[in-house]
Amino acid sequence: VAGSHARHDLAGRRIVVTAGGTREPLDPVRFIGNRSTGRQGVELARAAARRGAEVTLIAANLEVPADGLRVQHVSTTAELQEAALLSAQTADVVIMAAAVADYRPDSVADEKIKKDVQGDELALRLVRNPDILHELSAARRAGQVVVGFAAETERDPERQLELGRAKIARKGCDFLVLNRVGWSEGFGTATNAVTVLAASGDIVAEASGSKASVADRILDVLA
Ligand code: CTP
Ligand code: CA
Repeated sequence: VAGSHARHDLAGRRIVVTAGGTREPLDPVRFIGNRSTGRQGVELARAAARRGAEVTLIAANLEVPADGLRVQHVSTTAELQEAALLSAQTADVVIMAAAVADYRPDSVADEKIKKDVQGDELALRLVRNPDILHELSAARRAGQVVVGFAAETERDPERQLELGRAKIARKGCDFLVLNRVGWSEGFGTATNAVTVLAASGDIVAEASGSKASVADRILDVLA
């Protein structure tokens, strides 16, 4: 579909995209993270820029190149939260494609955790992170559009849709991009298959294929 968006249908729009996976440090050399590479978010940012938008990519530990994009690098959920809430103040659209750590260690060791101190078992206590998407939705200005992603491992399509509908209601965002993830799906792959839900719970788009084509289909809904 090269050239199909040459009309620059997002011209002048300020779009913030978060991408990648946040990491929560345990000690100076270790973290708890997830398998998101950031590819779908980067494709969204690229596609939006191609269509004329002024794009800020807030990138958490990106494992794919983001050349040519205006990128703000972050690592922890707290850093992503601060960057996203600030950028959102002047954005027309905020897309939370990042995989945010739900929990972080309740304390971070100043020195490397050592086996001779810990012995045969190591117990970690994790505490809940703030829900950035929920905060963005609550702080949304008139006319601003907030988009969430939902990563689900549920295999049954009907049950997955139910989870998506419950999630968009809980988050309070305008759209939710549902995508199935698993050991070999979603994270780190070149292709994706998504269902886009509106706040009503209605399906407004379905797309599968390259992450670039899925990005354009998602932006079609927003445009
Ligand atoms: N999200 C967020 N802040 C968090 C957790 C998630 O902003 N602390 C965002 C993600 O960026 C995504 C959406 O919320 O856009 C849904 O993330 P997901 O992990 O699917 O849902 P959760 O609400 O975390 O619920 P759960 O993981 O328990 O299914
Ligand atoms: Ca989660």
